Amino acid sequence: MKKIGILGGTFNPIHEGHIYLAKQAITKLGLDEVLLIPNRVSPFRTSEEIVDYDKRFKMCEIAVANEKQIFVSDVEKNLPMPSYTINTIEELKKGNDNSYYLLIGDDQATKFTEWKDYDKILELVEVAVFLRNESTLDLDYNYTKVQCDLHPASATDIRNGNFLYLNNNVKDYILQNELYIHEIVRSHMSQRRYEHSLSVQKVSIELAKLHNLSVYKASLAALLHDICKEMDKELTAQYMELEDETARSLHPNVHHQFVGARYVEEKLQIQDTDILDAIRYHTTGGLDNPYVYILFIADKIEPSRGYDATQEMELAKIDLKTAYDFVKCKQQAFIGKESK
Ligand SMILES: [Fe+2]
Ligand SMILES: [Fe+2]
Repeated sequence: MKKIGILGGTFNPIHEGHIYLAKQAITKLGLDEVLLIPNRVSPFRTSEEIVDYDKRFKMCEIAVANEKQIFVSDVEKNLPMPSYTINTIEELKKGNDNSYYLLIGDDQATKFTEWKDYDKILELVEVAVFLRNESTLDLDYNYTKVQCDLHPASATDIRNGNFLYLNNNVKDYILQNELYIHEIVRSHMSQRRYEHSLSVQKVSIELAKLHNLSVYKASLAALLHDICKEMDKELTAQYMELEDETARSLHPNVHHQFVGARYVEEKLQIQDTDILDAIRYHTTGGLDNPYVYILFIADKIEPSRGYDATQEMELAKIDLKTAYDFVKCKQQAFIGKESK
């Protein structure tokens, strides 16, 4: 007979705060293990962007890969929708005599008596409520207190573009599958610029494939390249203070390339230097790196700019460096004409 904690949630996405709670429950209640149970959610139920069940499940699996006492259960996968907690518990208890602890937060605890068949739940499991030190709840049912601190991680923050409290491998999965990223990019810019970014992404992917480069790197750099182009001037200036004199002396129109690279490194925790360099030099060029070439070219010739770039594209298909030099040359000629 084992003592098992049940921690349900949408896990959209799972983050360090969830793992922290699971560990607190294991220690404070002396559990053998905790089961994370991703809930199936109707996409119509909420306004937030819910990633589909299989991907949320996968992220949970990645997050607990190195945990000895935390597991992920797919018990809700085949239960009828909506999946009520009572059904989940009855399903879990089938064919074993383990004792279960339903782990819930204080906000859920105050509404617990509104849950379907809550009295039956109380007969089947022990309810354990996460509470901050010293606080208590006046509830008219029996519960066990799990005393713990508040963890700063929040799934909403993550969906809004702050990846600080994500497990590293979960973060990579999110980036590789572009989960939440489109909403994040979109929230930073006008619809027109977002469409430009998508168009740059399309050209970049094509070129990366042709030259046997990483589609992931080229694609992500393209999607994110203008993320700071519409950032307010004060914040841009703050970021630019971190740059050297050469960068600062460049025209303000190109500052967003430096700020963009710093921003995605800081907020989205991107560490890949090809991606960061491609963003960092996408306007000016100036670094010998194929991902810089691709983004530099794609940014200038993507179709929504509305000019005939057949020649540039044909060159780029054959040789990136030559195409980059050609596009750069044309750009300088254009700037020269403009300033006259
Ligand atoms: Fe740009
Ligand atoms: Fe751009």
